[in-house]
Amino acid sequence: MEIKVEQCKVRKEKPDFSKLGFGKYFTDHMFIMQYSDTEGWHDAKIVPFGYIPIHPASTVLHYGAEIFEGMKAYKTADGFQLFRPLENFKRLNDSAERLCLPKVDEEFTLKALIELIKLDYDWIPESVGTSLYIRPFMFGNDESLGVHAVHNATFVIILSPVGSYYAEGLSPVKIIIENEDVRAVRGGTGYAKCGGNYAASMRAGKRAAEKGFSQVLWLDGVERKYIEEVGAMNVMFKINGEIITPVLTGSVLPGITRKSCIEMLKSWGYKVSERLLSVDELIGAAENGTLDEAWGTGTAAVVSPIGNLNYKDKNHIVSDNKIGPLTQKLYDELTGIQWGLKPDPYGWCVKVKM
Ligand code: PLP
Ligand code: COI
Repeated sequence: MEIKVEQCKVRKEKPDFSKLGFGKYFTDHMFIMQYSDTEGWHDAKIVPFGYIPIHPASTVLHYGAEIFEGMKAYKTADGFQLFRPLENFKRLNDSAERLCLPKVDEEFTLKALIELIKLDYDWIPESVGTSLYIRPFMFGNDESLGVHAVHNATFVIILSPVGSYYAEGLSPVKIIIENEDVRAVRGGTGYAKCGGNYAASMRAGKRAAEKGFSQVLWLDGVERKYIEEVGAMNVMFKINGEIITPVLTGSVLPGITRKSCIEMLKSWGYKVSERLLSVDELIGAAENGTLDEAWGTGTAAVVSPIGNLNYKDKNHIVSDNKIGPLTQKLYDELTGIQWGLKPDPYGWCVKVKM
């Protein structure tokens, strides 16, 4: 399929790249294409960044038929590179399958993304800790109120230069273990990256923020016993020298950073167990001093140390509320590969020359 390009007439003024935060600024262009059962994906184009007109009965506005991805581009000496982009498009298609949205052609979508970034190349920030965040998303767009698998959809990619996701940067974050609300259940949409999962998490997130916590750590939705993941990242714990991360039960997002960290940790000789980890075991380890380190992994969050785990109104300080040595090593190795500053023995990066 051909990608039409309509360039913007006037380029926007760039924000101060030293004060980006997360997801507040958007580049000059976006990619958009349409789907219908009769035509398949069509009308692929790169257009000036702007509003998307939407019918008031559009499926997404009523029934939440929306999925998205989060990935990053990093500036290199001679262009830019993407971290495991096809993994993201594969996961987008897994989410699409769950929500009865149409699948995309992964290679074509990557090609469209690369074309878009080339056009907005000067929006990729270069200083340490910054990158160009990429948000592909798709929504069901039937102009009718019937509840059924959609016949029409829209796929968009927008780009946002970002700094650190957490205001804390690489300082440890404070996490509260949620006892009341649940994010997802097995058989539901937890493994899919769909907007509804995040909508369901807002109430607990708001309560957490009011108490001074950065994010919520979710327990499983059935027994409320097992650790699942944090609002925007998967979690890992070093207990008695072993690395433990919740097994992908169907209600946890299969994070690409998680998968990459597991590969790195195994290659360094660590025992990594993907298994059920009960909150009692975790808190027990925090109390008896065997919980050495805790961290989250995610595209936006990268590798984020967890310094405080609150459960049932009690704070449990991890690693003296400092970044632990293994968390630091993971952060350094991962970002070294992502920023193109270290060798990429796994072949994870897709390099693009400008
Ligand atoms: N879990 C949730 C709920 C997320 O939103 C994210 C972010 O994408 C992750 C985990 C981490 O996934 P990834 O490493 O693919 O970014
Ligand atoms: C990401 O890490 O890409 C995410 O999607 C997290 C988020 C901001 C919801």
